Amino acid sequence: MSDTWLPTLITESPEAGYQLAIKMSRMGVKYTQPSAEAREKLRPKYAESADSLIAVSHVVAVNFQTVAAANNYWKA
Ligand code: HEM
Repeated sequence: MSDTWLPTLITESPEAGYQLAIKMSRMGVKYTQPSAEAREKLRPKYAESADSLIAVSHVVAVNFQTVAAANNYWKA
Protein backbone atom coordinates (compact mmCIF):
# COMPACT_ATOMS: atom_id res chain seq x y z
CA MET A 1 0.00 0.00 0.00
CA SER A 2 1.43 3.35 -1.04
CA ASP A 3 1.85 5.87 1.75
CA THR A 4 1.07 8.77 -0.59
CA TRP A 5 -2.58 8.03 -1.12
CA LEU A 6 -3.58 11.09 0.93
CA PRO A 7 -1.23 13.92 -0.08
CA THR A 8 -3.76 16.66 0.72
CA LEU A 9 -7.26 17.24 2.06
CA ILE A 10 -7.73 20.21 -0.26
CA THR A 11 -10.08 19.58 -3.19
CA GLU A 12 -11.37 21.75 -6.02
CA SER A 13 -15.06 21.21 -5.40
CA PRO A 14 -17.45 19.77 -2.83
CA GLU A 15 -18.06 16.83 -5.14
CA ALA A 16 -14.34 16.05 -5.37
CA GLY A 17 -14.28 16.38 -1.59
CA TYR A 18 -17.03 13.82 -1.30
CA GLN A 19 -15.07 11.43 -3.53
CA LEU A 20 -12.09 11.90 -1.21
CA ALA A 21 -14.30 11.15 1.79
CA ILE A 22 -15.32 7.87 0.12
CA LYS A 23 -11.68 7.08 -0.59
CA MET A 24 -10.75 7.76 3.05
CA SER A 25 -13.58 5.51 4.21
CA ARG A 26 -12.55 2.69 1.92
CA MET A 27 -8.92 3.02 2.98
CA GLY A 28 -10.03 2.64 6.58
CA VAL A 29 -11.54 -0.71 5.65
CA LYS A 30 -8.44 -1.66 3.65
CA TYR A 31 -6.09 -0.92 6.56
CA THR A 32 -8.41 -2.76 8.94
CA GLN A 33 -8.72 -5.82 6.69
CA PRO A 34 -5.63 -5.97 4.44
CA SER A 35 -6.69 -9.25 2.82
CA ALA A 36 -8.32 -8.48 -0.55
CA GLU A 37 -9.64 -12.02 -0.52
CA ALA A 38 -11.45 -11.44 2.79
CA ARG A 39 -12.87 -8.12 1.54
CA GLU A 40 -14.06 -9.67 -1.71
CA LYS A 41 -15.77 -12.42 0.24
CA LEU A 42 -17.63 -9.91 2.42
CA ARG A 43 -18.50 -7.42 -0.31
CA PRO A 44 -21.74 -9.16 -1.47
CA LYS A 45 -22.96 -9.14 2.15
CA TYR A 46 -22.53 -5.42 2.81
CA ALA A 47 -23.65 -4.51 -0.70
CA GLU A 48 -27.05 -6.08 -0.07
CA SER A 49 -27.56 -5.17 3.57
CA ALA A 50 -29.54 -1.99 4.23
CA ASP A 51 -28.02 -1.60 7.70
CA SER A 52 -24.47 -2.04 6.38
CA LEU A 53 -25.08 0.51 3.64
CA ILE A 54 -26.46 3.00 6.16
CA ALA A 55 -23.34 2.41 8.30
CA VAL A 56 -21.13 2.99 5.24
CA SER A 57 -22.98 6.23 4.46
CA HIS A 58 -22.42 7.39 8.00
CA VAL A 59 -18.66 6.79 7.87
CA VAL A 60 -18.48 8.70 4.57
CA ALA A 61 -20.51 11.56 6.08
CA VAL A 62 -18.12 11.85 9.04
CA ASN A 63 -15.10 11.93 6.72
CA PHE A 64 -16.84 14.48 4.48
CA GLN A 65 -17.19 16.79 7.48
CA THR A 66 -13.43 16.65 7.97
CA VAL A 67 -12.72 17.32 4.29
CA ALA A 68 -15.29 20.15 4.14
CA ALA A 69 -13.81 21.84 7.22
CA ALA A 70 -10.28 21.52 5.76
CA ASN A 71 -11.53 23.28 2.63
CA ASN A 72 -13.34 26.00 4.58
CA TYR A 73 -16.60 24.69 3.09
CA TRP A 74 -15.43 25.77 -0.39
CA LYS A 75 -16.38 29.37 0.39
CA ALA A 76 -15.00 31.81 -2.14
C1 HEM B 1 -16.42 -1.66 -3.60
C2 HEM B 1 -17.37 1.96 -0.55
C3 HEM B 1 -16.77 -1.08 3.16
C4 HEM B 1 -15.33 -4.53 0.12
C5 HEM B 1 -16.79 -0.44 -3.08
C6 HEM B 1 -17.15 0.73 -3.85
C7 HEM B 1 -17.41 1.74 -2.99
C8 HEM B 1 -17.23 1.23 -1.67
C9 HEM B 1 -17.83 3.17 -3.35
C10 HEM B 1 -17.15 0.82 -5.35
C11 HEM B 1 -18.45 0.32 -5.86
C12 HEM B 1 -18.48 0.34 -7.35
O1 HEM B 1 -17.66 1.02 -7.99
O2 HEM B 1 -19.34 -0.35 -7.88
C13 HEM B 1 -17.21 1.45 0.73
C14 HEM B 1 -17.25 2.25 1.94
C15 HEM B 1 -17.09 1.38 2.98
C16 HEM B 1 -16.94 0.06 2.41
C17 HEM B 1 -17.43 3.75 1.98
C18 HEM B 1 -17.05 1.59 4.47
C19 HEM B 1 -16.94 2.74 5.08
C20 HEM B 1 -16.40 -2.29 2.66
C21 HEM B 1 -16.22 -3.48 3.43
C22 HEM B 1 -15.82 -4.45 2.59
C23 HEM B 1 -15.74 -3.87 1.27
C24 HEM B 1 -16.48 -3.57 4.95
C25 HEM B 1 -15.51 -5.89 2.84
C26 HEM B 1 -15.32 -6.39 4.02
C27 HEM B 1 -15.46 -4.03 -1.13
C28 HEM B 1 -15.07 -4.75 -2.32
C29 HEM B 1 -15.41 -3.94 -3.40
C30 HEM B 1 -15.97 -2.72 -2.85
C31 HEM B 1 -14.41 -6.12 -2.36
C32 HEM B 1 -15.27 -4.28 -4.88
C33 HEM B 1 -13.86 -4.16 -5.34
C34 HEM B 1 -13.41 -2.75 -5.46
O3 HEM B 1 -14.02 -1.97 -6.22
O4 HEM B 1 -12.39 -2.40 -4.84
N1 HEM B 1 -16.87 -0.11 -1.75
N2 HEM B 1 -17.03 0.14 1.06
N3 HEM B 1 -16.10 -2.56 1.34
N4 HEM B 1 -15.98 -2.83 -1.50
FE1 HEM B 1 -16.55 -1.37 -0.21
